[in-house]
Amino acid sequence: MSTNVPDSMIEGPPRGATAAAPPRRQWQATDGGALTRLWQKISLARQMASYRFSSYIFCHLWFLKLAFTVLRRVRPISIFGKLVVLTKMSDVREVLGRFDDFTLGEVIEPGMPWGAFLMTVDWSEQHARERGLLQSVVKREADPQIIRKAVADECRERIAAAANGRIDMVAELAEPAVIRIAADYFGVAPLKNDKRRMARATRNLAGIIMVNPPVGSKPWIDSRDDMVALTQQLLEQIAVVKSAIGASHQNELPDNLLTRLTALLHAGGTPKWFDEDWIRRYLTGLVATGLATVVRGTSQMVDQLVARPDALKEAQLLAAALDDAEAHERRLTSSASEIERRSVAERVARSRNALTHYIYEALRFRPMLPLLVRDCPRETIIANGTGRVRIVLAGARVLAAPLAAMFDPDAFPQPWRFDPQRPLESYIHFGDGERRCFGRYVAENALMEMVRALLRLPGLARASGAEGQIRYEGPAPYSFVLTFNKQTIGTRER
Ligand code: HEM
Repeated sequence: MSTNVPDSMIEGPPRGATAAAPPRRQWQATDGGALTRLWQKISLARQMASYRFSSYIFCHLWFLKLAFTVLRRVRPISIFGKLVVLTKMSDVREVLGRFDDFTLGEVIEPGMPWGAFLMTVDWSEQHARERGLLQSVVKREADPQIIRKAVADECRERIAAAANGRIDMVAELAEPAVIRIAADYFGVAPLKNDKRRMARATRNLAGIIMVNPPVGSKPWIDSRDDMVALTQQLLEQIAVVKSAIGASHQNELPDNLLTRLTALLHAGGTPKWFDEDWIRRYLTGLVATGLATVVRGTSQMVDQLVARPDALKEAQLLAAALDDAEAHERRLTSSASEIERRSVAERVARSRNALTHYIYEALRFRPMLPLLVRDCPRETIIANGTGRVRIVLAGARVLAAPLAAMFDPDAFPQPWRFDPQRPLESYIHFGDGERRCFGRYVAENALMEMVRALLRLPGLARASGAEGQIRYEGPAPYSFVLTFNKQTIGTRER
């Protein structure tokens, strides 16, 4: 075991503990041990039931929607003991925007046992520094293209291979696509070169951030195993890249986040806290926050589109218009005038924007992250100057739910109506304030390419029965089967 693996990820006695001689068997001890084990089993079963219930509530949102609607009418900022529940968009934005007054580190830390990562940093200056460093290796123009190409290529291959007009959009499309993003863009190869293992690991890693499983349960043990394997692999990958850079072979390395960060470290002049362990922790963080989240977002969004045949048809027309506009752009020759170029680029941007409205609106009915949580370290006030102002005591936990905010009629008039004309700035799928989603550019491009690939399929619909519903492992989807008309596909493919 490498010394860089955090203690919290290792099962068994803590480091430094000496092996004690095995105790002599005595009937009382055996009896006590059996009782203790029985008690532990009962306690674990109780915690697992609560974990399954929380995962259900987090995935099937009818209960939360109902509860938020009632609370918004009765008491928009409701306080139940130490739990504060917000139901208005402006209050949710206020809490997410007050970085120092509403902290995240302690809430999220149990879900990130591989070590400190952006989300566990509650010191605003340090958070800004670390976020800035990560941002500095992102290429604003080139990276979205890399992501789009990786996802579009993977989707095309997967759809061509889909037999009998059926595709499991989680296992056969979205998971392979995000594993490709991990390999091509993050620079994190599939665990042990096994894409299925990697898919399971991404589910486990994201799962423990969203709903923490009980210590000692199977999902907890699986996620620890995957984290140890990922840590080992990353340390090896970083060492290989480091030695290639040291031997001036950087040009032969693939251009990805791992290479860029290692090169930055090698170049020197960087802060003391930025070291190899930081690269390992942050790449693990990106794998945990940036892969199964995209799978969950895409499947929940597609689920809501196929539930609305009219909206689905309109989205299919927009996807076809975007395909046409991009094909036109590719056909432009060097003799094309600047005016023509600009007009085609505007057409592409307009079609993309129109389709984004459908993606955001569909996702509003089943957001990827329906709940966000904050701790309140000091007594404070929320919604000051309004009729709903409340004092929040030190030690309170605040539920600032995007799901509640995006059904607030003040921000979304007639919230139960599917309306793809709403302004994109109204949505808070990607959070707000300094902790807004770092990977939004990855998520938006991946979601767009995946949904386009599916919308091209004629007769797209959900499969009948349970297969045609999203099935979850904890909070992470593992299956969602769609059907389409295979016979006519050849004529519509790009
Ligand atoms: C549909 C996909 C995604 C959605 C809906 C989403 C949503 C969010 C939200 C709501 C937050 C704020 C959390 C909070 O305030 O507590 C967040 C933070 C974050 N997201 Fe995403 N995310 C997605 C995909 C991604 C991807 C692809 C990556 C990485 C490439 C990523 C990386 C992060 C990181 C690092 C943070 C923490 C930012 C910070 O603390 O400064 N996310 N995301």
